[in-house]
Amino acid sequence: MKTLLQQITIRLEQAFEQAGYDKSYGRVTRSNRPDLCEYQCNGAMAAAKAYKKAPILVANDVLACLVDCDMFEQKEAVHPGFINLKVTGSVLCTHLKEMYVCEKLGVRQEEVPKTIVVDYGGPNVAKPLHVGHLRAAIIGESVKRLMRFKGNQVIGDIHLGDWGYQMGLIIAELERRQPNLPYFDEDFDGVYPAESPFTIAELEEIYPTASAFAKENEAFRENALEKTYLLQSGHKGYFAIWRHIMDVSVADLKKNYQDLNVEFDLWKGEADVQKYIPDMVEMLKEKGYAHLDEGALVVDVAQEGDKKEIPPCMILKSDGAALYSTTDLATLIERERKYSPAQVIYVVDKRQGLHFTQVFRCAKKAGIVPEATRLDFLGFGTMNGTDGKPFQTRAGGVMRLENLIHEINDEMLIKIKDNRTVTEEAALATAKMIGLAAVKYGDLSNQASKDYVFDVERFASFEGNTGPYILYTIVRIKSILNRFVKTEKSLEGLAFGFATTEHEKALMLEVVHFPEMIQDAYEDLAPHKICAYIYDLANALNKFYHETKILAEEDERKKEGYIALLLLVKEILEQAIWILGFEAPERM
Ligand code: ARG
Repeated sequence: MKTLLQQITIRLEQAFEQAGYDKSYGRVTRSNRPDLCEYQCNGAMAAAKAYKKAPILVANDVLACLVDCDMFEQKEAVHPGFINLKVTGSVLCTHLKEMYVCEKLGVRQEEVPKTIVVDYGGPNVAKPLHVGHLRAAIIGESVKRLMRFKGNQVIGDIHLGDWGYQMGLIIAELERRQPNLPYFDEDFDGVYPAESPFTIAELEEIYPTASAFAKENEAFRENALEKTYLLQSGHKGYFAIWRHIMDVSVADLKKNYQDLNVEFDLWKGEADVQKYIPDMVEMLKEKGYAHLDEGALVVDVAQEGDKKEIPPCMILKSDGAALYSTTDLATLIERERKYSPAQVIYVVDKRQGLHFTQVFRCAKKAGIVPEATRLDFLGFGTMNGTDGKPFQTRAGGVMRLENLIHEINDEMLIKIKDNRTVTEEAALATAKMIGLAAVKYGDLSNQASKDYVFDVERFASFEGNTGPYILYTIVRIKSILNRFVKTEKSLEGLAFGFATTEHEKALMLEVVHFPEMIQDAYEDLAPHKICAYIYDLANALNKFYHETKILAEEDERKKEGYIALLLLVKEILEQAIWILGFEAPERM
C-alpha cells in the first residue's frame, strides 16, 4: 500500500502538472511547523526559479487546481510560496483502516527479497563476555530484525573469535596445572575423554590467570604462542582441548545471549574458515593481487581520492601466519559459496573501521565478492560510565555482562515491588522484561556510531525517553482494551473514527507515519530512528489519553473509534519493540 505521504505527493504532482509545471515539484513532506500545518510542499519555490515567476503565483496556480480535491480540510499558499496542508479526518480514517488490515502495518515489503548476512556479536571464546560486546549484540539483533521485517532473507552469524592466542594460553595453563592429562602425552593414541577437564567457572578463572602470568613470565608466553601455533597446525591433543573449550564456552554464551533475547542463525567462527586460506593465498598470488612487502604478503587497497592513507591489506605475516584480515576474507569466501548474499552487514566497534575498509576493498578487488555485493560496516561507539570513561564495575574492573544484567534486574524488581503485591515469580519475570527494555532502548536510542553514557538510573526510569516508558504506555493501552472487552464487546471489526479532537488527530498523524519511518531506518541501518518515533508516538498517545474520556465516552461510535485507534497504536508499538529486540509485559 502507498503511504499517506506518497498519496498526498501524488495528488500535488497532479496539481503541478495541471497548472502547467513539472510534476517533480510536487514533493510533500511532513510539516516542521505543526502549529501551522500537517504537511507542506515547498515545490513552488524551486519551480519559481525555473519558470521565472514569483513563488506565490506558482503556489496559487497549484492551489487553483486543488479546489475540487477533498483530501484536505485546509490548503493555503503562504508567503513567499509555501503550500500548507491539513488532511481531513476522513482521509485519516480510511488510511488507518488500510494500515490495520495490512499484514505489515503498511510497510512495503521488498519485491525481490535479498539474502543478507548480519555479522554481529563477535565474542571471543573463553574470554568473559563483557559490556563491550553488549552493543554488538543489541544493535546487530535489531538490524537483523529490521532487515527481516522488510521481507528479506536474513542470516545472523555470531562470528566467534575462536582461533587466537587465548586458546594457546589456556592450553599452556592447563598443562601447568594438570601435566598428566592425555592431551599432553605425545605418544597417546587412544580416544581422548569426552568430558571436559574444566567447567565454565574454572575456564573463566583459567584465562585471566594465564593472561596475567604470560605478561610477567617470558617463557610461559613463548610456550603459549608455541601452543597456539601447534593448535593451528593441527596438533591432535591441543585440538581436543580446543573442542572442550568451545563446547563449554558456547553453551555458556548461548545462555547469555538468550537472556538478552538475541538469537543467531549461525554459530560460525574464525576456526571454521581456516580451510579456505591456502587456496585463497594461492589465488591472490597467482592473479597478481598480492605482493611481498618486507617479507609480508599484502594487497594494495589505496584508492585515488582517499582522504587519508589506507595501508595495504595484510594477508600473511612475514612468518607465514594468517591474520584477522585473512580470516575475514576467508569468511567472505565461505559466505559467497554458501549464500551468495546481496549484502553483508558488520556490526562491530567503530575502532575497527580501517580493518573493514581494507578487507572490503581487497575482497572486491580480488573478486572474492562480486562488485554488486553491498558490504556495510556499521561501527558503533564506546559505552561509557556516568564518569565519561569506558564503562567499568563499581570496583573499577571490567564489568561482566551477566553481572550487569543481574544488577539491572534487581533494581527493577525493587521498583515494581514497591508498587503492588504480586508473586515473587511474576515480579521477577516482569523485572527481567523491563530491565532488558531499559538496557536495549538506552543503547539503541543513540545513534550507533556515537559514544554514549550507560546510566542505569536514567535508563530504568518510567518517565522520559526510556524503554520502561514505552512499555508503560503499551501496558496502559492493554489495560484499557481489557476493560473495554470486559464491559462491552470484542475488539474485532471496530470502525476508526474521524479525528474529532485535536489530540486524537495528532495521534493519528503519528500513526500514519510508521511505514515511512521504517523505510528511513531501514535505508540508514538506524534503529535509533525507531526509538525516536515510538517516543513521539507514546507521547501523542499519553496526551490523547489524558485529554480524552475514552471508556466513559457516551457516543458509542466515537468510543469505538478511540478503541480502534488504541488497538492500532498497540500493534505498532509492539511491532517496533519486536524490531528493537524486547517485549512488553501484561502489567507492570
Ligand atoms: N571478535 C572480534 C572482537 O572482539 C569481533 C569480530 C567482528 N566480526 C568480524 N567479522 N571481524 O573484536
